[in-house]
Amino acid sequence: MTSPTPGSAGSRTVLITGGAGGIGQGIARAFAAAGDRVILADRDAAAVAAAAEALGAEPLALDITDAASAAEALHGLAERGGVDALVNNAGILSVHGTVTELEPDAYRSILEVNVIGTFNMLQAFARHRIVAGGGGAVVNISSIGGRQPTPGMGAYESSKAAVDSVTRWAAIELAAHGIRVNAVAPGPVLTPMLEMGMPEGSPAREAWSSRIPLGDLAQVSDIAPAVVFLASGSAGHITGVSLAVDGGQLLT
Ligand SMILES: NC(=O)c1ccc[n+]([C@@H]2O[C@H](COP(=O)([O-])OP(=O)(O)OC[C@H]3O[C@@H](n4cnc5c(N)ncnc54)[C@H](O)[C@@H]3O)[C@@H](O)[C@H]2O)c1
Repeated sequence: MTSPTPGSAGSRTVLITGGAGGIGQGIARAFAAAGDRVILADRDAAAVAAAAEALGAEPLALDITDAASAAEALHGLAERGGVDALVNNAGILSVHGTVTELEPDAYRSILEVNVIGTFNMLQAFARHRIVAGGGGAVVNISSIGGRQPTPGMGAYESSKAAVDSVTRWAAIELAAHGIRVNAVAPGPVLTPMLEMGMPEGSPAREAWSSRIPLGDLAQVSDIAPAVVFLASGSAGHITGVSLAVDGGQLLT
C-alpha cells in the first residue's frame, strides 16, 4: 500500500515551522516554487512576517513548545482549507557543553524545543489529518549528529536522536491512517548565519569540511529537495526513515 500526500505538488498546503530561519526559508522557497501554498510558522513574529512576505507565504506566529498554541494553530488552519504536509524544522542549535560542564537547565531548554516542540506539532497535525479522513506527510528536520558524536554537542545531538526515534514511533502508529512520517538529517549546512561564523578558509570551516567525503558543508539548496521529495507522492511507500544529507560524513 502506498500513501500519497493529499493533493499533488502545486495544490498542497504545507506548514513549515522555524520558517524565519535559514533552512526553513530554503525549504519554503522549494515548496513555493512547486506552486504549493506555504504557511511559515516561527516564534519570532517579526522575522517570520518579513520572511513570509519575501517568499509569498503566509506567516504564523507560533511557539511550538506550547501544546495548546500548536493545537489552536492546526484548528485555525483546518478551518481555512487544512494542511497536507508538516515540516517540523524549528530547532535550537546553540546549546553546547561537555558532559562534565553542561547545566541541566540548558539541556532541558533544547529538549523542550527540539523534542517536545516537534512532538506537539506532530500530534496536532496527526489529529487534524485523522479528522480530515487520513493521509498526509510529516518531515522532521533531524541531524546526523543524532548518529555521530562531536565533543561538546551532545545535548543537541541527543535531542536529534530523539527526533529520529519520534519519527519511527509516529510512522508506525500513523501508517494505518495513511500518514507518512519521515526525517531529513543534514550534516552542517551553510545557512547565512553559519557562514558568517565560519567563512570560507577559516579553521572552523576547514575542520568541518575535512570530515565530509564530498568535500564541503551542505548548502540550504542541498537539503530542501530531500524534504520536498519525502513530502510528495513520489515517496508514497516510504515512512519511518531518517534520510542523511551529509556529503557522506556518516561514512567516516
Ligand atoms: N544549520 C545546520 O548546520 C543544521 C544542521 C543539521 C540540522 N539542522 C536543523 O535544521 C533546522 C533549522 O536550522 P537553521 O540552521 O535554519 O536554524 P535557524 O536558527 O536559522 O532557524 C531556526 C528557527 O527556529 C525558530 N524557533 C526556535 N525555537 C522555536 C519555537 N519554540 N517555536 C517556533 N520557532 C522556533 C527560530 O526562531 C528560528 O527562526 C533545525 O531543526 C536544526 O537543528 C541545522
